[in-house]
Amino acid sequence: MNETLRIQQSHRSIRSYKPDPVSDAMLDQIIAAAHRAPTSMNAQDISLIVVRDAEKRARIAELSGGQAWIAQAPVFIVIAIDYHKTDLGVRKAGQAQIVHESMEGFGVAAVDAGIALGTLITAAESLGLGIVPIGSIRRNPQDMIDLLGLPPLTFPLVGLCIGHIKDDVLPKPRMDINTFRHDERYDASGYAAAIDAYDMEIMDYWKQIGRSDGTTWSGNLGNFYKQVYFPQVKPVAAMQGLLNDK
Ligand SMILES: Cc1cc2nc3c(=O)[nH]c(=O)nc-3n(C[C@H](O)[C@H](O)[C@H](O)COP(=O)(O)O)c2cc1C
Repeated sequence: MNETLRIQQSHRSIRSYKPDPVSDAMLDQIIAAAHRAPTSMNAQDISLIVVRDAEKRARIAELSGGQAWIAQAPVFIVIAIDYHKTDLGVRKAGQAQIVHESMEGFGVAAVDAGIALGTLITAAESLGLGIVPIGSIRRNPQDMIDLLGLPPLTFPLVGLCIGHIKDDVLPKPRMDINTFRHDERYDASGYAAAIDAYDMEIMDYWKQIGRSDGTTWSGNLGNFYKQVYFPQVKPVAAMQGLLNDK
């Protein structure tokens, strides 16, 4: 196995960080990797906002529902959809941008943001740093927009904590790979049995790492997916001009 595959296959999210800063040289390399990542139509419809200021990170931790690791990790990167940037190009070409009002537009930007996130993760982990992605910045998106000075046609989609690992953690098991990989044709026939097995495996995992509050995979999803868990996304995205109605 080569080094890149080894790093990717040993991924685990880290929620305990040392106070040591991430050097400028490391951070520049991590961001340069994501800057080179592909985007749909070369739209470059993503911006990263790098937050190192401790007070700002503490505020983001609070806005994200009290996630202490955001305040603890020395670097927090927000990945924002940026249809403001593309709008300038479209206007320069004498056209009116409409794509940001469509499902296609939100989907494409979310894919591009996901590629940037994955690239940042591999780059940071390759330098021996720990990371944890943070979707909970969408809990209070308007406050995030105000805090970061994001203009119309932008939206803070996901964040990433980066720092030096304090307490490492055992990699979390995944559901059977046959529920993920389908050859030639989708096949869900093994899902129910695989979910039963995974629910047991994940309870064992919580026991191994001493987490008494851990729940099964299905129980955890049941708690979240029975509702729209970040209901502010739709109205705040609409106020930003990302209408998602076409
Ligand atoms: C888009 C995205 C958003 C996430 N949001 C959060 C979050 O807000 N807080 C958190 O502690 N972990 C968050 N995670 C981390 C997941 O909980 C974690 O990746 C998952 O449980 C699998 O564990 P592992 O990364 O250790 O393998 C997020 C992960 C992704 C990919």
